[in-house]
Amino acid sequence: MHMLDLIDKKKKGKRLSKEEIYYIVQGYTEGAIPDYQISALLMAIYFQGMDAEETRMLTMAMVESGDQIDLSAIEGVKVDKHSTGGVGDKVSLVVIPLVASLGIPVAKMSGRGLGHTGGTIDKLESIEGFDISLSMEKFIENVNTNKMAIVGQTGDLTPADKKLYALRDVTATVDSIPLIASSIMSKKIASGSDAIVLDVKVGNGAFMKTLDDARALAKAMVSIGRGLGRDTVAVLTNMNEPLGKEVGNANEVREAIKTLKGEGMQDLVNVSVTIAGHMAVLGGAFDSIEVAEKAIRENMKNGKALEMLKTLVKIQGGNVSQIENPDLLPTAKISVPVIAKKKGFVHEIKAEEIGTSAMLLGAGRETKEDVIDYAAGITLHKKVGDEVTEGDVLCTLLTNRENYQDAYDKAQEAYDIADERPEHIPFILDVIT
Ligand code: URA
Repeated sequence: MHMLDLIDKKKKGKRLSKEEIYYIVQGYTEGAIPDYQISALLMAIYFQGMDAEETRMLTMAMVESGDQIDLSAIEGVKVDKHSTGGVGDKVSLVVIPLVASLGIPVAKMSGRGLGHTGGTIDKLESIEGFDISLSMEKFIENVNTNKMAIVGQTGDLTPADKKLYALRDVTATVDSIPLIASSIMSKKIASGSDAIVLDVKVGNGAFMKTLDDARALAKAMVSIGRGLGRDTVAVLTNMNEPLGKEVGNANEVREAIKTLKGEGMQDLVNVSVTIAGHMAVLGGAFDSIEVAEKAIRENMKNGKALEMLKTLVKIQGGNVSQIENPDLLPTAKISVPVIAKKKGFVHEIKAEEIGTSAMLLGAGRETKEDVIDYAAGITLHKKVGDEVTEGDVLCTLLTNRENYQDAYDKAQEAYDIADERPEHIPFILDVIT
């Protein structure tokens, strides 16, 4: 087999066979095929696409390039969730205890944040002592005894994806549906769960800016999951503003606590309940999403969901008193109100700008090596649809950094205020099964 022929084949829009895809992925992972040939192939895929079978083979080749987690020692159907990345996205913090409170095992592997998006692991580490580096034995034991555990990515999962993703980043080939779908799904499949619920974000703060693109990505991912024996559902959710009112780390944990008590903002509650509901159905606990959602809302009201978060914090070595009294979580010394320059209605809050502003305040990383300030972040007081008068406080910056002017400007620019009241966009845009 020659790489030149395979590039030429894809360039002409022909399909690659399983053997050819494995040859490419293995050769690239081992360093036998150079970057320049893979770059050319990626660009050919970008323009010519890949069919469902090719995309599934690419996913499996990437899964088999590294370690695969074996969760068979956990009883029951293990359900995972994945978000394609948003700002203020604390859904995992809400959903893990919610689903576990229904008796469904959640074995979650999560990542850290980079750039304008946050990571679940960073948020949890704002709780004093919370340990995300559990051994695989302890991880499995915790899920078996308490129905949930969360770890940072361990082992050498999907090294082929790591290498390919880095190359896509510098060759303008990230935004290709088969490449995104196979990249995300390879990590989910390698993580070992039986079923997967995908939260596909749509809007200005998301990878997918339009509903049509998001639907196409969701369908590609559901098809890969199903084709590889994992029950998969994708929920398309609105990301034309950050989710909820808090963006950061400790402040997002505070908001998750409120939400688990049933006192969260509508958008966050709706997205969390829908995702948890689909996880509960895939986990086999309920026959219908309506009944599952009812049980979930009940566990928010009766305190079971919050109790589960306390259990999660306790079994992973965290300080439970910070959950009982969220004022004990890290708080910033400086708070700066961001003022509206004109009156009108909020049409959009550019999530990426808010995420970047929060990063400049210390809540995120510009490079992988940066250290996070857990107290830093932004509280949004005005959300899309709200009426604003000149001089109103749009949001508050929370920081320990004296120099916050760039963050202030970014947050102010993030608010798109216009004369007319905007049309309401539903929180849940579609569900692909
Ligand atoms: N997230 C991933 O993991 N991979 C992509 O290609 C895009 C987003």
